[in-house]
Amino acid sequence: MKNQLEKIGKDAAEMINSVTSKAELDQARVRFLGKKGELTAVLKMMGKLSAEERPIMGQMANEIRNHIEKTIADAEIKIKEAEMKIKLEKETIDVTMPGKPHKIGHQHPLSIVLDEVKDIFLGMGFDIASGPEVEWDYYNFEALNMAPDHPARDTQDTFYITEKMLLRTQTSPVQIRVMEKQKPPIRIISPGRVYRSDAVDATHSPLFHQIEGLVVDKNITMGDLKGTLEMFAKKLYGDETKIRLRPHHFPFTEPSCEIDVSCFRCGGKGCPMCKGEGFIEILGGGMVHPKVLETCGIDPEEYSGFAFGLGLERLVMFKFNIDDMRLLYENDVRFLEQF
Ligand code: DAH
Repeated sequence: MKNQLEKIGKDAAEMINSVTSKAELDQARVRFLGKKGELTAVLKMMGKLSAEERPIMGQMANEIRNHIEKTIADAEIKIKEAEMKIKLEKETIDVTMPGKPHKIGHQHPLSIVLDEVKDIFLGMGFDIASGPEVEWDYYNFEALNMAPDHPARDTQDTFYITEKMLLRTQTSPVQIRVMEKQKPPIRIISPGRVYRSDAVDATHSPLFHQIEGLVVDKNITMGDLKGTLEMFAKKLYGDETKIRLRPHHFPFTEPSCEIDVSCFRCGGKGCPMCKGEGFIEILGGGMVHPKVLETCGIDPEEYSGFAFGLGLERLVMFKFNIDDMRLLYENDVRFLEQF
């Protein structure tokens, strides 16, 4: 038995020292230490030994087992180190290789024009205000002089969350929110998303963008409205641009007007872009209705104001000669890359 044990120890050392992979090492472990392994087989024969021999052989078997276990553990570490070395060599990064180019996007045409509009008004001393897109009926309609049965509501059907809460149809509610909080002088614009229950076509979308403007102070007149918007039109479309005011009706302004700019394609002669008119409508505005001022706690005897609202999509479509509004929302890079 002693010889057998010595042979196992020798064989094991030889085999383990020559293994080169984890799989081979496992084989060695099974062969010598496994349930049906060589060492186990010898130990099973212990019972046949005499009482004096047993402890001696037992101790020897234990030592050999411990030695094999340690050799295996050492070999395992060596194999792992070798594998890691190979892996690291394979994965070496050549930092001098050219990288994969990342496609960098750019601003959406709506953002390009919005930034331009913001710059123009900030330059004239306006601040930027904002309000929620989920709005109370009160701010979107009632406080703007559109009572529940007002016919002007018909053109602004929207998505209702409750009977009193809706997706705002216009940026005009921000006027009310600003006037409730801030006393004159007020000079703000408020760009944002608005919603209407409209079917999608080339000029309609259930979601679009408006930019609201509001100025309230002492002695504000229609002349201030005209001067401000003329300056705006010249900055946006060029110094030769003229504006034209036409009478109109909005419930929250009195008097109200629509404002056209001379066609920047033909300069006012008439062309397909302006449909032969020479002018293009870009916004609505007027003097803030005294009732609206009163509702917000501003004395209409002391203060007056003008307001206006413009559609961002319209500005963008004219500026870039886009004939279908849907292109602005489809996010097709082939389209967007052009701006
Ligand atoms: N909110 C109006 C609309 O969506 C646009 C508008 C008109 C805004 C006149 C104004 C204004 O502030 O004075 O049709």
